[in-house]
Amino acid sequence: MGAGIAQVAARAGFAVVMHDVNEEFLARGIKAIDKSLQRDVDKQRLEPGEKDAIIARIKTTTDTTPLREAFIVVEAATEDLAVKTEIFKSLDGIVSAGAILASNTSSISITKLGSVTQRAERVIGMHFMNPVPVMKLVEIIRGAATSDRTYEEVRSLTERLGKIPLECHDSPGFVSNRVLMPMINEAIFTLYEGVASRESIDGIMKLGMNHPMGPLALADFIGLDVCLAIMNVLHDGFGDSKYRPCPLLKRYVDAGWLGKKSGRGFYEY
Ligand code: 3HC
Repeated sequence: MGAGIAQVAARAGFAVVMHDVNEEFLARGIKAIDKSLQRDVDKQRLEPGEKDAIIARIKTTTDTTPLREAFIVVEAATEDLAVKTEIFKSLDGIVSAGAILASNTSSISITKLGSVTQRAERVIGMHFMNPVPVMKLVEIIRGAATSDRTYEEVRSLTERLGKIPLECHDSPGFVSNRVLMPMINEAIFTLYEGVASRESIDGIMKLGMNHPMGPLALADFIGLDVCLAIMNVLHDGFGDSKYRPCPLLKRYVDAGWLGKKSGRGFYEY
């Protein structure tokens, strides 16, 4: 998702620094951006020269020094509280005093991320949807200490990115994943209990509810490890058994069947 966010920001004219832990991940990100922009070139919605200019606006680095110049950093690391906490602590000491620290987290508390920094009022959630270049929504999450000024700046930035900001308060899973993930989890239970085949479950939801993808295909697309992490956040956060992750989801993640990105999930890729 980090590559998708870099792509939309560069396409909107911003100078972007894409940071990752190694060169291989950065190269993979640039390849994904190239492929995504090429779709638009092929459909004659983008000039080849414009595509090159967009990519040229994205600098890649494994060094954190260039982040000093940023007015906003959007973190899109693994959906793990310990990992994100470390990143926010470290970013707080790197970026300039007024810079905004945003997280693309799917469900982790923005209030908790803000509390490990000295700038909780400048910490906010900017939750993009997959695939980032296509999906219009950015769910904007205000932590307990997020200031109105930070919210306004991020709302206006989101519009400049060509996206639609919708606001919510910090609560486990926010709105998007509190509603989406239990539906996906329930679809996995119907498969687990042998109520229907994967094709029937997805077909019923696609044709019956007019969803663009069935819930099992969508889970594969999001990543089963991410789905499990979000269910765990809901389960821990609300302490309600209705959010217990399906044992089949746990089993697939244990097996390394993480969906599209690993070549196998509920479907084979
Ligand atoms: N980059 C750029 N464009 C892309 C793209 C990408 N990665 N993927 C698809 N597109 C474009 C295509 O070019 C096409 O554009 P056009 O219609 O203007 O010509 C359009 O999207 C549709 O693509 P396709 O025809 O190839 O395929 P589909 O019609 O099957 O659409 C889809 C693909 C957009 C992924 C659609 O299936 C969909 O909307 N799926 C649901 C996605 C969804 O629910 N996302 C939210 C997930 S939850 C989340 O992200 C939150 C997280 O916290 C878990």
